[in-house]
Formats: sequence, structure tokens, C-alpha cells
Amino acid sequence: MQSTSKKNNYFIGTLSGTSMDAIDASIYKITNKIKLVDSISFKMPEDLKAKLFYLSKSKKNLFQNPTKALKQADDEFTRITVKTIKRLIKKSGLCSSDITAIGSHGQTIQHSPFSKKPYSLQIGSPDLIAIQTGITTIGNFRQTNIINGGSGAPLTPAFHQKFLRNKKENRVIINIGGISNLTLLLKNQKIMGWDSGPGNCLIDQSVKFFSNGENSFDKNGRWGKKGDLKKLDKLINEFLSREYFHRKPPKSDSTENYNFSEIYSREIQISKFDWISAMTEITAKSIFNSLKENCNVKELGIYLCGGGSKNLFLMDLIKSKLPKKWKLYTTKTLGIDPMLVETSTFAWLAKQRIESRKINLRSSTNAEISLTGEIFKS
Ligand SMILES: Nc1ncnc2c1ncn2[C@@H]1O[C@H](COP(=O)(O)OP(=O)(O)O)[C@@H](O)[C@H]1O
Ligand SMILES: [Mg+2]
Repeated sequence: MQSTSKKNNYFIGTLSGTSMDAIDASIYKITNKIKLVDSISFKMPEDLKAKLFYLSKSKKNLFQNPTKALKQADDEFTRITVKTIKRLIKKSGLCSSDITAIGSHGQTIQHSPFSKKPYSLQIGSPDLIAIQTGITTIGNFRQTNIINGGSGAPLTPAFHQKFLRNKKENRVIINIGGISNLTLLLKNQKIMGWDSGPGNCLIDQSVKFFSNGENSFDKNGRWGKKGDLKKLDKLINEFLSREYFHRKPPKSDSTENYNFSEIYSREIQISKFDWISAMTEITAKSIFNSLKENCNVKELGIYLCGGGSKNLFLMDLIKSKLPKKWKLYTTKTLGIDPMLVETSTFAWLAKQRIESRKINLRSSTNAEISLTGEIFKS
């Protein structure tokens, strides 16, 4: 197909989140507005997911000392990312020369912003993606944020601020991926972004265990809904007394901190439904408590996104805790597909980097206002 002009402002955003469920990639036309052109999701192969999960549990600094296993996983992940991007472009009817740049987050393996030598390690090599797609690729978003004095996460608040803030409504955007992150967009107040704690990670691990690996998540929250929440009241309260939940934002969390095998005891006589119900309640309560502690307004629009917004039981549990004038929606109400907020973010960040615009992530990461991401030419 004949290439059209670069001025079309087509950008691709791609990533695999902490759930490691899929590699998502979307094309957007970004001007002052952002418009979805097309999107694709490539389910993460189970064997690769297992390797990534294993690597993410490593106690070694894989950023400084990459192992052979890491390099192999990186190659495999990069190959799939390139394949996904090529498929996406084909599906959209565009050609690669139409795309100005790709913003590729990759897959986080380790995130250690507070160690002696802070780092954030993602796989999915941006230089190889650039070479193999023929499209300039921006990567290393978190690492550049760390180099600029930040904690490397969360990065989405800058995007939320640009496209989802509204002068007339107090809003919070809650992205429920593996971990849950909140962006508070209050009228006349500085934006604030942080991780409240678990998103789908406790639920996913539990479903995987109880289904012997057959299912990887609680589809629409059906299993959780069948359980009795009160049976594990004590465990829920104990869990929520963890130090992280009482720490003040900004703060960022990681799925490594939520390990099914450390909390589940085979001695407990409990059905899978009751257990998953309890994990869903921990998730809902930690999100709500964190919001309540940091948001002292009467009226609030709560907009959910990420895979957790499809868990109807989780949505119900959150809803049941809300004061009367706190209303729950998904970002669909604001015109952004809840499953695509993150790919939009990295497409937009790519555009900002290409155009040498600095990003303000001070209140969510503490970083200097700075260029975020590194450019890899094709
Ligand atoms: N229909 C659904 N019902 C319940 N949960 C869902 C559904 N679809 C996706 N999810 C949950 O969302 C997760 C993926 O969400 P996602 O936003 O992609 O997270 P991440 O950014 O961490 O990859 C899945 O692991 C699963 O737990
Ligand atoms: Mg995902």
C-alpha cells in the first residue's frame, strides 16, 4: 500500500502489564485529541508466561547481571511484540511508513526504584523492534523516569491529566491491572497518582490454583460472587493491616508482593468460591480505603479501567462501599475503552518524546519534569 504522509500523526502504543495476560498494541491518531484507529491483543503463551513469572521472582539484579534465561525470554517476547505490531498494522489497512513512532513499554521483570542502584527492568528490546518494524521506537520509559530522580511508576497520570481531567468534576481514574493504580484529578488541586495495592493478581493466582491451571482469571467475577465473604473475615482484616496499605502516597507496588502460596493454607476448610470471594474483597477494600484516605470530597466520579473493570463482582464490591455522591463508571463513559487506557498512554508518550516535550510526573513519581523514554531509530 502507498504510504501517506507522516503528518497523519499515527502512533502505536504497546505493552504487557503486570498480569502478563497479553501483549496489547493499538494505533492512535493523536493531535490535541486521541482517536483509536485499531487494536489487537496477543494472548501470552503459557510457557512464556511461566518463564516470565519465574524470572520476576529472582532475587538477583537481572538489570546489571542479565542471565541467559532473561536474554532468551527477551528474544521471545520481542519476537511476539514485533509480530503483534505487524499484524496490527496490516489489520488497520495502514502501512508501517504511516506510523510516526511506536511507544513500547515492554514487560516489567523487575522494578527496584529504591535500591542502592535504582533500576526498572523491562524486556522487549526497543532497538530490535525499531529495526524489525522499520518504525522509530521509544522505550525505556520507566528507566528514564528513574534516571530523572523518579520511582519509575506510575506513568499513566500524565496521560490521565491531559485527556481525562475535567474542570467541572472531581475525578479518579482507577486502573485495575495486576496491581491497582489510582490517579486523583480533583478540581483546583494538584494531580496525584499511586498504587493502592493488588488489582487482579490475588484473584488470578487463586483461580489458577483452584482450576489446576485451566483458567487464569475469574471471568466476570462469577466464582467470587458464589462465595461467602464473611467466612474469611479475619484473613481479610489481617491482610489489610499490612504496612503498605497504611503508607502515604506517592507509592508504587508490585505483584511480587502478593504471593498466593504465602497466604493460602491447605488446612483451611474453605471452598474455592469463598476464597476467591475473599481475595476480591481484599482487592476492593484496599482500593476503596486508599481512595477514601486520600480524597476528601463530597462528589466524585470514579472511572475504572483495566481488566478488573470486567470483573462484575469486584465492581459490585467497590460500589457497595461508596458514599452516596461517589459514582462508579468505566472510562468508556469518557470515550476511552477501559482496556486501552495503557496503550493510549504509551502511544501518547511516544509522541511527546519524538516532539521533545517534557513530561510532568512529579506528583506521582517525584521525577524532575523531563523527557521520558529513549528514542531508537529504525
Ligand atoms: N471478563 C473478565 N472478567 C474478570 N476479569 C477479567 C476479565 N477480563 C480480564 N480480566 C482480568 O484482567 C486482567 C488483565 O487486565 P489488564 O488490564 O490487561 O492488566 P495488566 O495491565 O496487568 O496486563 C486479567 O488477568 C484478569 O484478571
Ligand atoms: Mg494485560
